[in-house]
Amino acid sequence: MKIAIDGPAGAGKSTVARRLANELNFTYVDSGAMYRALTLKALQQGIDLNDSSLLEKLAVSTDMHFQNQFDGQIIFSDGQDVTSQIRSPQVSEAVSVVSAHPGVRKIMVQRQQALARACSVVMDGRDIGEFVLPDADFKIFLTASIEARTQRRVREMEKRGYNADVDRIREEIMARDKLDSQRPVGALRTLPDHIILDTSKMTEDEVLQVILDKIRRA
Ligand code: DC
Repeated sequence: MKIAIDGPAGAGKSTVARRLANELNFTYVDSGAMYRALTLKALQQGIDLNDSSLLEKLAVSTDMHFQNQFDGQIIFSDGQDVTSQIRSPQVSEAVSVVSAHPGVRKIMVQRQQALARACSVVMDGRDIGEFVLPDADFKIFLTASIEARTQRRVREMEKRGYNADVDRIREEIMARDKLDSQRPVGALRTLPDHIILDTSKMTEDEVLQVILDKIRRA
């Protein structure tokens, strides 16, 4: 079984997707973490973020895997735990540029599809329902107001030990929304078969419950 969860930054996708996967005993795949790990490596190697051919080579050659933990998930990039580093403001600012390259997306989509072939998954991202898992059993689109998303990102950053500047985070989310929804391939958009949920005024528990109810009823 495959469950796709798409939506903009800060809509609560990753928490809900992880909890949903736990409830259903599925594997959670955070596709955004894969783009972030690639971006981190590109920044560390000083690669020009507009050089699509070098970025594609990097996407093919970087080993990425996830390890589940009771309170979250660890991502390894070439055997190194990069879970915390991929959430840095530098990576957050650069990731939409890296993920806009069609060639990079093609490689990442194939890698994500390979992960989904191995087991039942809940996968979150931007293009999961449209390109990665077009045959998903459920496609969910989570969204929320810009203010609610900003506050959530602020809390998440503070929890991870980063200094959170509210105005900067709001700007960054708006810039990312724009880039993510306007790129030529794999743009963030709703589909006719998406179940759309505005989570602005919902708690995590409520969002999870609505999704679980829909799945169980089906
Ligand atoms: O979900 P996130 O904020 O961690 O994702 C980071 C970036 O990765 C996001 O700005 C766009 C990109 N991304 C993407 O292009 N396609 C996906 N399936 C997931 C993320």
